[in-house]
Amino acid sequence: MTRHFLTDLDLSPDELVQVLDLADRLKAEPYALGALAGPQTAAVIFDKTSTRTRVSFAAGISALGGSPLIINPGEAQLGHKESIADTARVLERQVSLIIWRTYAQAGLEEMAAYSRVPVINALSDAYHPCQLLADLMTVRERLGSLQGRRLAYLGDAANNMAASYLLAGANAGMKVCVAGPQGHLPADHIVAAAAERARTTGGEVAVTTDPAQALAGAEVVATDTWVSMGQQEAAEPAETFADYQLNAQALQQAADGAVVLHCLPATRGAEITAEVMDGPASAVWDEAENRLHAQKALMAWLLVESGLAADEVVQWVRQEVSR
Ligand code: CP
Repeated sequence: MTRHFLTDLDLSPDELVQVLDLADRLKAEPYALGALAGPQTAAVIFDKTSTRTRVSFAAGISALGGSPLIINPGEAQLGHKESIADTARVLERQVSLIIWRTYAQAGLEEMAAYSRVPVINALSDAYHPCQLLADLMTVRERLGSLQGRRLAYLGDAANNMAASYLLAGANAGMKVCVAGPQGHLPADHIVAAAAERARTTGGEVAVTTDPAQALAGAEVVATDTWVSMGQQEAAEPAETFADYQLNAQALQQAADGAVVLHCLPATRGAEITAEVMDGPASAVWDEAENRLHAQKALMAWLLVESGLAADEVVQWVRQEVSR
């Protein structure tokens, strides 16, 4: 059965650990695994702009021995002259992976339904699961573990990053509390799905309008832009989120040694101050680098689990994840 990665919950808790372990291994030895040797082609489609996702997938596919085919906004027939289903039928015969940054989550689900090769969500309006793999990898590097760790997210808690923090954090057994203003809180179905997963992992999820509640004891403090991609026209005035800025006063309310995350790009002076972003608590550059290692691990793992990898790749991955 083909495995896809469309939401943070598409990996079980055990599978998440496998991917993160593999990512650590590939960070230590970047060219050890030729999972796309051939070179096989991986299509990376963008309906929205990108720096980190574009670079990390292109570099990661190359490092796995493959060839990245980057399709920029407006370059393909997809979405205006050709359906998602027909695009999937064409791509799956010629590429080994389909990686897509788009708007609607339903589009990714349709692509996956018609593809025999793995489809990866490179950000949708609903979720940003690849970013969370990098974030969890970074937290493990900084704190040594994920289980039971407290993570606070401040800002627009209705956006895709907040949803992914809830789901991926719960999947990792973390205690996640997201804080945002009334009208910018996560959808009930996201909170319910995260809570259900947390029940199996020992994690916890909470939603609040009180930033102090989220920050109390937080070992990880994360934020994201107040204006998500594709939502510029509907953007709220900055005052809406002013109480949720990640600044020195906010960080003081978190645990000693708390780690600061931001998926980037950031607007210094808006959701995060320069003092915090460029200060000693910040892990944002490791977080950006870890996109590369985490996505390499994900791509290799999906190919193996989908029965689409060469025997030596299967053997290498199975040996690494069973350590
Ligand atoms: N964090 C992130 O996805 O960055 P890009 O939008 O630059 O890809």
